[in-house]
Amino acid sequence: MKSILVTGGAGFIGSNFIRMMLTEYPDCFVVNLDKLTYAGNLENLAEFRGHNQYRFVHGDICDGALVGRLIDEHHIDALVNFAAETHVDRSIAGPQVFIDTNVTGTLCLLEAARDKNLGRFLQVSTDEVYGALGAEGIFTEQTPLSPNSPYSASKAAADHLVRAFGHTWGLRYNITRCSNNYGPYQFPEKLIPLMIHNALHDKELPVYGDGLQVRDWLYVHDHCTAIWRVLEQAPPGEIYNVGGCNEKTNLEIVNLILSRLGKPQTLIRHVKDRPGHDRRYAIDAGKIMRQLGWQPSVTFEQGIARTIDWYLRSDQWLASVVSGEYQCYYEKMYRNR
Ligand code: NAD
Ligand code: TYD
Repeated sequence: MKSILVTGGAGFIGSNFIRMMLTEYPDCFVVNLDKLTYAGNLENLAEFRGHNQYRFVHGDICDGALVGRLIDEHHIDALVNFAAETHVDRSIAGPQVFIDTNVTGTLCLLEAARDKNLGRFLQVSTDEVYGALGAEGIFTEQTPLSPNSPYSASKAAADHLVRAFGHTWGLRYNITRCSNNYGPYQFPEKLIPLMIHNALHDKELPVYGDGLQVRDWLYVHDHCTAIWRVLEQAPPGEIYNVGGCNEKTNLEIVNLILSRLGKPQTLIRHVKDRPGHDRRYAIDAGKIMRQLGWQPSVTFEQGIARTIDWYLRSDQWLASVVSGEYQCYYEKMYRNR
């Protein structure tokens, strides 16, 4: 039996990863350490409450003593670090917490992993550490890090720390750098769930600038299978890009959501652009495909249909996450934009 410490497992990708492990890999024990920020939600894993291969621990990755205790107590073989502040717009409004969690928090995890001689440390990173592309080009693992937002700068700093712990102390690590994810349980501050939520309520869809920015979209379960492949098969010290070969402009995405929901294009409103907005991301995932045999298995058409169906079925989940703090966030971010 493998014992895995997942941090940030109550968030979007972490909860999908834990669901995959507990349903598809029954020889795993999972400890989920999560601070339950606005983005963490125990409802995302409600069906596993009391499951004998799962334990939830409410805590902060900055608490190194707690992390060390969990590693000992549960004989942890590997740590997968999803815990992070993740929204670019929030990082522009207030960067400090991004440094606290994404940089200092990762450092605390690394120190605990080094001190306990942990088997493997997997840092879940992002393609945003590479910066932005123009109309041409693609990020490879050799592309120099050139992050543009406080969010991506904090993730790049964490990647450098992980690598430095490998170089200096021989920590057995991997880093995955994935493109934009979408799917069930994504908090409606990110493009796809925000647009689905607004369209469902006949609210305006706020498209930043001309809406011709490009992202590469990957269905969340495919990201989870990539992380699992890396945990199982990758040699230590290797970094892997993960992506969907699926570039779309934001306007294409928004129009697709409107047409699937049978809503008019007149709901689209172009609003003031994000400061320093990265124009295009595109990722070469050839290394993980060749070396580890990973492939995405869900096409964008399948994935977006599943995602929209999930939000339509999950009106209670959606209603509860948009109550409270979300209303203040939305007002501040979008009023008079
Ligand atoms: P999310 O914002 O949905 O969830 C983050 C989780 O981390 C939440 O459960 C939150 O409570 C927890 N958390 C935050 N600070 C913490 C702390 N100090 N201690 C413990 N837990 C804490 O994020 P997500 O979209 O699921 O992203 C997960 C990881 O994947 C992040 O590291 C992110 O950078 C990376 N990533 C995300 C995407 C994407 O498209 N969402 C793409 C590539 C990489
Ligand atoms: P987002 O989901 O925040 O991911 P990231 O910025 O990390 O790629 O945004 C995806 C794209 O959608 C990005 O180009 C910004 C744009 N966007 C909008 O146009 N309107 C919005 O309300 C949001 C949240 C994003």
